[in-house]
Amino acid sequence: MEYSCFRLMLLAVFFFPAFVECRTRHYKFNVVMKNTSRLCSSKPIVTVNDMFPGPTLYAREDDTVLVKVVNLFFLVSVRHGIRQLRTGWADGPAYITQCPIQPGQSYVYNFTITGQRGTLLWHAHILWLRATVHGALVVLPKRGVPYPFPAPHKEVVVVLAEWWKSDTEAVVNEALKSGLAPNVSDAHTINGHPGAVPACSSQGIQKRLIAIRFTWEFLVVKV
Ligand SMILES: *[C@@H]1O[C@H](CO)[C@@H](O)[C@H](O)[C@H]1NC(C)=O
Ligand SMILES: *[C@@H]1O[C@H](CO)[C@@H](O)[C@H](O)[C@H]1NC(C)=O
Ligand SMILES: *[C@@H]1O[C@H](CO)[C@@H](O)[C@H](O)[C@H]1NC(C)=O
Repeated sequence: MEYSCFRLMLLAVFFFPAFVECRTRHYKFNVVMKNTSRLCSSKPIVTVNDMFPGPTLYAREDDTVLVKVVNLFFLVSVRHGIRQLRTGWADGPAYITQCPIQPGQSYVYNFTITGQRGTLLWHAHILWLRATVHGALVVLPKRGVPYPFPAPHKEVVVVLAEWWKSDTEAVVNEALKSGLAPNVSDAHTINGHPGAVPACSSQGIQKRLIAIRFTWEFLVVKV
């Protein structure tokens, strides 16, 4: 996804090893439907690049991020948890700062990350698409600036969300019609997976042993 940045970086490493810095990060989001099974049942969901949760964006403070969203099916708009200084239109709430992206159209979100670092969330900002169209946005400190805590040995992005067996648009429409609260979800998910469900093999979250002698940094975002 970060093709041009990566290529630039390779060139830069080759010619100027001391000045490796990527200031513009390119990502491409293809909004596509994908049949997905959880909790012993299957339904089509809207995804970015066939992934649930969607791809993790990485950037450094002061980088410019260009996200090209190619919308093949639905009205979407994507909101980033980034303070938008002078680029309010890149924030994404449909009908507030921009019109939603029409099916078959694309849009390039272009914003610069200023004065923020940490793990944030990007998500679709129309209807309940955010239930499946979301992901983490990791803003690293500027190059050469250390973390404000001992550097972790490894970083793991953990995205907490919820799963409805029903179509989430049907859930929200039903709630809007009745005026009652929407149905609660059928499961909470960690990186897209609910807990192990008997007879639904391989759909539960993988159990992993974490060696505690390492310092791990968990970058947790909740949808
Ligand atoms: C999902 O599955 C249904 C039924 O098998 C099929 O008709 C549909 O084309 C599939 N959709 C996608 C996006 O694969
Ligand atoms: C992104 O925004 C910057 C600042 O407004 C502008 O200079 C640049 O051309 C834009 N890039 C794209 C690809 O739109
Ligand atoms: C919401 O929950 C009720 C009660 O369990 C159920 O009858 C209804 O079909 C659910 N709605 C949707 C959209 O799943």
